Amino acid sequence: MRFVSQTRNLSWAILALVLLSSTLFSLAASRKTKKNIQTKVFFSPKIELNPGSVSNKVFMDVDFPRGHISLKSFFAEVVNESGNSVPLHQTYLHHWIVVRYHQPKNVANNSEEGIIFKRNNGFCQENVFGQYYGLGSETRGTNTYIPDPYGIEVGNPEEIPKGMGCTECKCDLYGVTKDENGEALSPNYKGGLQCCPDNSKCKLSKGFLGPKQSLYLKYTVKWVNWEKFMVPLKIYIFDVTDTLKILDKSKGKRLNHDCKFEYEVEPCSTSYLNRSGCVDVKRASFPMQNGGYVIYGVGHQHSGAIGSTLYGKDGRVICTSIPKYGKGKRAGNEKGYVVGMSTCYPKPGSIKIFDGENLTLETNYSSNIRHSGVMGLFYFLVAEKLPYYHV
Ligand SMILES: *[C@@H]1O[C@H](CO)[C@@H](O)[C@H](O)[C@H]1NC(C)=O
Ligand SMILES: *[C@@H]1O[C@H](CO)[C@@H](O)[C@H](O)[C@H]1NC(C)=O
Ligand SMILES: *[C@@H]1O[C@H](CO)[C@@H](O)[C@H](O)[C@H]1NC(C)=O
Ligand SMILES: *[C@@H]1O[C@H](CO)[C@@H](O)[C@H](O)[C@H]1NC(C)=O
Ligand SMILES: *[C@@H]1O[C@H](CO)[C@@H](O)[C@H](O)[C@H]1NC(C)=O
Repeated sequence: MRFVSQTRNLSWAILALVLLSSTLFSLAASRKTKKNIQTKVFFSPKIELNPGSVSNKVFMDVDFPRGHISLKSFFAEVVNESGNSVPLHQTYLHHWIVVRYHQPKNVANNSEEGIIFKRNNGFCQENVFGQYYGLGSETRGTNTYIPDPYGIEVGNPEEIPKGMGCTECKCDLYGVTKDENGEALSPNYKGGLQCCPDNSKCKLSKGFLGPKQSLYLKYTVKWVNWEKFMVPLKIYIFDVTDTLKILDKSKGKRLNHDCKFEYEVEPCSTSYLNRSGCVDVKRASFPMQNGGYVIYGVGHQHSGAIGSTLYGKDGRVICTSIPKYGKGKRAGNEKGYVVGMSTCYPKPGSIKIFDGENLTLETNYSSNIRHSGVMGLFYFLVAEKLPYYHV
């Protein structure tokens, strides 16, 4: 699995960790709770950050629970060398993701040689948004727990293949004009991930000096050993920037997704008298081939967000997720930042997505000022079947 996260230190850092090869088996020593839920705390490798700098790293083969298990939750936060929580106004956590992959047994554990990414179930093209977990600044305040008997199944031996501002990354603040391949960025690209590569630096206030910091992504995983009665969930990530082309080939329909990760929220016209009421609404729709029962849902948005909703075909609300903004200074409640997203836990069985149902994602941002490189993702977990005692 891999984490990609981006942290800001009076500006920025992305840290990316790659985790877990499912070809390996060993049980991590861990604390057992009453319900056999095991909990273990892990730390990423050290990330060093100077004021204003960005860290955007991929760490392969990070520590993770092993074996055939059902993942129940994943909590993460940035801590310093003494293990203290680091607030967002000191180090901004832009995002992190956890990616699962299979690796040949005979290669070094931290090598990328011969690895096969094991993506989630939807929807974007290739490996885009294929992660198992991933959040941003809202990490501390967003629940990821999955109720029983559901879970994210990993490490099933049968599935293993054989043999195998500153926070918005405004380009002018980072002085970035080219992408990672050296191609000039479009003048319309005002900010986003392309302007925050690893080791880039955001402009500091004149004369600002600060110490280099050593940071870690601390992550807490809860899981139970896999049992037959458990119900595996499918992971879907819906990106509001996805444009879908339906190719009607003679051999049947093909859906070509094209997720662009980020978009720009243009400021509303100055002719509005009261600009604090300006809202940018973005929508995308497309069919979900295999439906099922929604067990969990949460949106991912950046600063300026108002909320997002996933709708079914008839306009019924599947889940609405609203950002929570911090009000203070303490880590987890930093003023002006999105410090959490509300989650949906529908009563299992109550919300069904039908096979082929056309879903719509709607994401709202305040548009009284410009926002660059914003995201509109919706992460949801679906059970294709309910447990037998449910029906
Ligand atoms: C970690 O953060 C705490 C709280 O801000 C601080 O007291 C401590 O000195 C920091 N430790 C290091 C090694 O920077
Ligand atoms: C990779 O890590 C596993 C468990 O952590 C260990 O058993 C194995 O020997 C390592 N493989 C290599 C090639 O280093
Ligand atoms: C402007 O709109 C916001 C939100 O719609 C409202 O709270 C505020 O009172 C309005 N201000 C004025 C001056 O009308
Ligand atoms: C988003 O905006 C639309 C259009 O104004 C509105 O119907 C919807 O309720 C808004 N959703 C959220 C979560 O604010
Ligand atoms: C899905 O719903 C959207 C919004 O209602 C609509 O514009 C689109 O045509 C629908 N697509 C299909 C394939 O039905």
